[in-house]
Amino acid sequence: MQMKKLLVISYSQSGQLDQIVSNILVAMEGKVEVYRHKIKPIPDFPFPWTDMSFWDAMPESVQCTPAQIEALDIDTSIHYDLIIIGYPIWFLSPPIPLSTFLKSDQAKKLLKGKPIVSVIGSRNMWINAQEDIKEMIDANKGRLVGNIALRDKNQNLISVVTIIYWMMRGKKDSYLGIFPKPGISDKDIIGAERFGQPILQAIQNNDFSSLQNDLVSLDAVDIVPSIISLENKGKHIFRIWARFIKKKGGPGAKARQRRLKLFKWYLLFVIFIVSPIATLVFYLTYPLFMGRIKRKLKYYRGLELKTKES
Ligand SMILES: Cc1cc2nc3c(=O)[nH]c(=O)nc-3n(C[C@H](O)[C@H](O)[C@H](O)COP(=O)(O)O)c2cc1C
Repeated sequence: MQMKKLLVISYSQSGQLDQIVSNILVAMEGKVEVYRHKIKPIPDFPFPWTDMSFWDAMPESVQCTPAQIEALDIDTSIHYDLIIIGYPIWFLSPPIPLSTFLKSDQAKKLLKGKPIVSVIGSRNMWINAQEDIKEMIDANKGRLVGNIALRDKNQNLISVVTIIYWMMRGKKDSYLGIFPKPGISDKDIIGAERFGQPILQAIQNNDFSSLQNDLVSLDAVDIVPSIISLENKGKHIFRIWARFIKKKGGPGAKARQRRLKLFKWYLLFVIFIVSPIATLVFYLTYPLFMGRIKRKLKYYRGLELKTKES
């Protein structure tokens, strides 16, 4: 019997997301032909980031504006039985290099009619980016059949501090020797191996109908309930900021730096002052909104695209 073919396309700066994907792929060894490709931006985004380059990535991330990437050397004459797309989150949105790929002619050809599994490695806010991904998969006539979303499980404000340290220093170690290690824990990265088996089974049977249920029962989709509404409001406001900043020019434009700095201080204020209050209000009013919150959790654990969800 001919081996099934799996195409894997991912983008990762530090390699964290790639490690997660590699662990998922362990189950495929010797059983599925794996074709793995990594997206490379031109020019590359800096890692570690400089302060201004980091904020400068916001408007185009939020608006899913394509930039430049190296063409992926993918054999389009092969029939791939499944495509895995792996990505981190940038400003509640897909990273620019992935949006660039998903808006390319190459993606249009590759994704059409194909089952797709997304794999996300985030700090803790990924649900809005995944809505963008669902839309782009839909525009390419692909079919989302599974989603795995891992996050940093440290407390929200702690993970903000540690991720800024990691992104600005490029080192995934403890800040000041006091804070926990940044990012997704080693345990969760290694534990991603367990998601390989249901994916392998689905490819081999060419039946993806129960894949997402199987993945969810393995805790593949990690959502913090108190963050849903915060994130939805945040994405709405980010869109307004993105338009406001872009009026002053495109990526790297000097004229937009003042507005980017304003955005930075706005965001730090929201994260450290507004979000703890919003979280407290969330838990105090939880019994009143329990039904609504459960419906939202069910929606974001699923694969459906409801563009008016808020
Ligand atoms: C520019 C930028 C913005 C980010 N914004 C978010 C975000 O909005 N939500 C989130 O959960 N993580 C965010 N992160 C963290 C990433 O999701 C991810 O955990 C980290 O960049 C490591 O991913 P890597 O595999 O590319 O190294 C951001 C990272 C960068 C570089």
